[in-house]
Amino acid sequence: NPTEPLVIDGKTYPRDHFTNATPTILDKLPRRLHLQPSHPIGILRSLIESHFNDFEHLNSLSPIVTVQQNFDDLGFPADHPGRALTDSYYLNQRHMLRTHTSAHEVECFSAGKDRFLVTADVYRRDEIDRSHYPVFHQMEGCNVVDPAQGGIERLERENAQMRAALGQANIVIEDPTGDETATNPYQAEHDPRTARIIAEHLKNSLNGLVLKLFGGGRAGGDGAEPLRVRWIEATFPWTAPSYEVEVMFNGKWLEILGCGVVRQAALERSGVGHKQGWAFGLGLERIAMVLFSIPDIRLFWSSDARFASQFRQGEISTFRPYSRFPECYKDLAFWLPAQGEGEGVKAWHENDFMELVRDEAGDLVEGVQLIDEFTHPKTGRVSRCYRFNYRSMDRSLSNEEVNVIQERVQERVTSEMQVEVR
Ligand code: PHE
Repeated sequence: NPTEPLVIDGKTYPRDHFTNATPTILDKLPRRLHLQPSHPIGILRSLIESHFNDFEHLNSLSPIVTVQQNFDDLGFPADHPGRALTDSYYLNQRHMLRTHTSAHEVECFSAGKDRFLVTADVYRRDEIDRSHYPVFHQMEGCNVVDPAQGGIERLERENAQMRAALGQANIVIEDPTGDETATNPYQAEHDPRTARIIAEHLKNSLNGLVLKLFGGGRAGGDGAEPLRVRWIEATFPWTAPSYEVEVMFNGKWLEILGCGVVRQAALERSGVGHKQGWAFGLGLERIAMVLFSIPDIRLFWSSDARFASQFRQGEISTFRPYSRFPECYKDLAFWLPAQGEGEGVKAWHENDFMELVRDEAGDLVEGVQLIDEFTHPKTGRVSRCYRFNYRSMDRSLSNEEVNVIQERVQERVTSEMQVEVR
C-alpha cells in the first residue's frame, strides 16, 4: 500500500518525497546469494576470504543504512551524482539501500575492527543490459594499524613476505602509479615513508589476490603466459592516494576493484584517528561472470536447478548454458514530456523508465536500448524509440505473454511518466 510506511525486518520507515525503493527491489533483500556456499557468488566470496584468512569476515550487515553512512561519513560532497534519486534507492530521506560496502567502513572502524572483510548485497539504479542488475554484491576489505603499537613494522614484515611470493609468481604488474604523484598524492598528515609502506601493503595484498583468482591460466591463457595486472590512478572521497586495478582477461582489460589509503578524516570520524591503513572494494558479479563464464547477470538470480546444480563449493567451474531460448524484440516510441510543461511534471530520467520496465517485466527483460532519438523541428519536442529485448533464462516465452507485459509497460509510462506514445 503506497500510503503506509515501509516495514522491513520489523522496523518502520515512514515514506516521504525521497521514497523510491520498489517492492520488486525490496523482495531481493532476503535472497543473500553471497551466503549460498555453492552459488558462484558464495564460492567467490569464500575464495577471497581464504586469501584474507586472518581478517574478520562480516557477511550479515543490514542493507539498510543511513545517508550519513553511505555518503556523508565518507566525505561525498553534497552534490555528488550518486546521491541522486535517479541513481540510488531511498526508503526515505534518512535511510537508503547501501550503494556500496564502503558504507560500513566507519561503523567497523568505530567498533575497533582493524582487519575485516564485508561481503554484502548493494543496490543501484541503472540501465538494463546483460551486465547490469539493480542488486549486486561487493566485498570491502580494510586493514588499519596503530603505528604506536608497531603496526607499521608489521606491515613491513608482511610486505617482505608478499614481495618474495610475488617475485616467484607468473605475474606481470604494470604500475605507473608507483610512489605518490602530483595528481595522486600521499595525505599531508602522513609521513611519506609510512604512506609508502601502507600503499605497498595494499598493492601486494591485492596483487596476491588477483593471482589467486586469475592465475594459472584462469585468465583465458594457458598458464604459461604470465598474468597481466595494471594499476591506475583513481579518486574516491575517502582515500588518498587512490587506485583501480585491471586484469587482462581473454585479451581485454577488466576493471575489478577500487582502493586506496584511507583518509585520516574518515578514521578521525570513526574515533580512531591514531590509526592508519588501506581499504578496497570489489564487485563480485563482474569477476564471477568471467571466471565462471556466466553470460547474463540475471542467471545469478535464477532458481532453475539447471543453473544451481552446476556449481560446487570451493570450485571455479565453467558454466555450460543449458539452452539459449529465443529472444523477442518490441519497440516503443514516445514523446518525452516537454521541459517545464505544467506544474508537477517531473523531469524525465531514463533510470525511472528502466525501473518501471524492471517492475513490470522482472527478469524476463534482457536489455532495453535507445535506438532512435530526434527533436521535432517546429515544436522542439523530443521523441525516443527504445528497443526491448525479452528473453527468459529458463524457458521459451510466447509472443502473447510478451505482448501483455509490453502493453502494461506502455500503459504505465503513459500514466506515470507523462510521455505520449507515438
Ligand atoms: N566503494 C567503491 C566503489 O564502489 C570502491 C572502493 C572501496 C574504493 C574502498 C576505495 C576504497 O566503487
